[in-house]
Amino acid sequence: MSKLFRDARVLIVGGAGFVGRNLTVALLNAGAKETILVDNLLSSEHDNIPTSPKVSFWEGSIADNDILAKIGDNYDYIFHLGTYHGNQSSIHDPLADHENNLFTTLKLFNHVRDFKRVRKVVYSGAGCSVAKKTFGEAEATSEDAPISLEMDSPYSISKIVGEFYAVYFSKQHGLPTVRARFQNVYGPGEVLGAGKWRGTPATVWRNVTPTFIYKALKGQALPIENEGIATRDFIYVEDVVDGLLSCASKGRRGEVYNIASGVETSIRELAQTINELTGNMTPVQHLPKRDWDSSGKRFGSTDKAKREFGFETKVSLREGLSRTIEWTRITLPFIEACIQKHAKNMAKDSLLFY
Ligand SMILES: NC(=O)c1ccc[n+]([C@@H]2O[C@H](COP(=O)([O-])OP(=O)(O)OC[C@H]3O[C@@H](n4cnc5c(N)ncnc54)[C@H](O)[C@@H]3O)[C@@H](O)[C@H]2O)c1
Repeated sequence: MSKLFRDARVLIVGGAGFVGRNLTVALLNAGAKETILVDNLLSSEHDNIPTSPKVSFWEGSIADNDILAKIGDNYDYIFHLGTYHGNQSSIHDPLADHENNLFTTLKLFNHVRDFKRVRKVVYSGAGCSVAKKTFGEAEATSEDAPISLEMDSPYSISKIVGEFYAVYFSKQHGLPTVRARFQNVYGPGEVLGAGKWRGTPATVWRNVTPTFIYKALKGQALPIENEGIATRDFIYVEDVVDGLLSCASKGRRGEVYNIASGVETSIRELAQTINELTGNMTPVQHLPKRDWDSSGKRFGSTDKAKREFGFETKVSLREGLSRTIEWTRITLPFIEACIQKHAKNMAKDSLLFY
């Protein structure tokens, strides 16, 4: 696989973010000639961008005409990872979500729709847009599962409409789009508090895994909502990057692939494992259910990506958590500086997370 990316020119929208950073490193390791990252640093930090003469950073929104004007038909691959992070920020400000999570996608696809050189345009979809809303027993969500009109958040709406556009531009204009639909990604490079204040404490507590790891390392109680019965499909970021590269190299144009582990893990189990691995003895703190979230239990089917291009995750949850805990320990001063930026906004409701 790595040969395909040797000497490639790659554009990564949202490239300063968590997944973007890890993807950039993987592309550099695979011999990419040049990676251009476009990012407005809404939920990321300049210091998280890998330093290399092969990495260029253009700060700004991909919906900005001046940025688009700089993007010519000279890329081999385009990855669109830009998003308005995340569900709770989008509920707080649906217009900001639209601007940075959907209008962005439309403007990018429309701009590149007649490009001839690009081999693949990979769009990162979100499993939460498709998963059946249930607190009963979950079944693996397949790529062609029905899509409900009842979405939990503007974020989920934008992510799925982004998929509609990916399909539309593929069919109508022959743009070689492939959708990589992620589950719950965790791992090194996800910095709590990265970026600008987005109206809720979720700006800091981006997602359950980094939040639990940070709090466990501080010896604090892990906040568990609704007895921790919700389940997720946790996937280590290196596996997601492998999945993105597989979609770029082997995914069929116009298609969608779950990039999932296929393993269902409850939040309670996640908390127990993190407390065990960090040696945190403080008992968990029980909180009521989040009222906006109805997708209790979910995990992704791995069949299609495995069948079509042999994609399988390599890193177990335990191993991935150990690596992430180690990275968090080492990176703590940077993470705490990012959290600290939002201190004045965090007074109220600061226990809410993921
Ligand atoms: N992390 C997960 O668990 C997960 C799960 C499902 C899907 N995804 C998708 O994966 C992608 C990457 O997510 P992530 O976890 O790295 O999030 P992230 O917040 O770290 O990265 C998203 C990046 O997009 C940038 N951005 C926001 N608005 C922009 C704009 N207008 N123009 C250019 N850049 C802009 C942000 O500053 C940020 O750097 C997103 O599309 C997200 O929806 C992530």
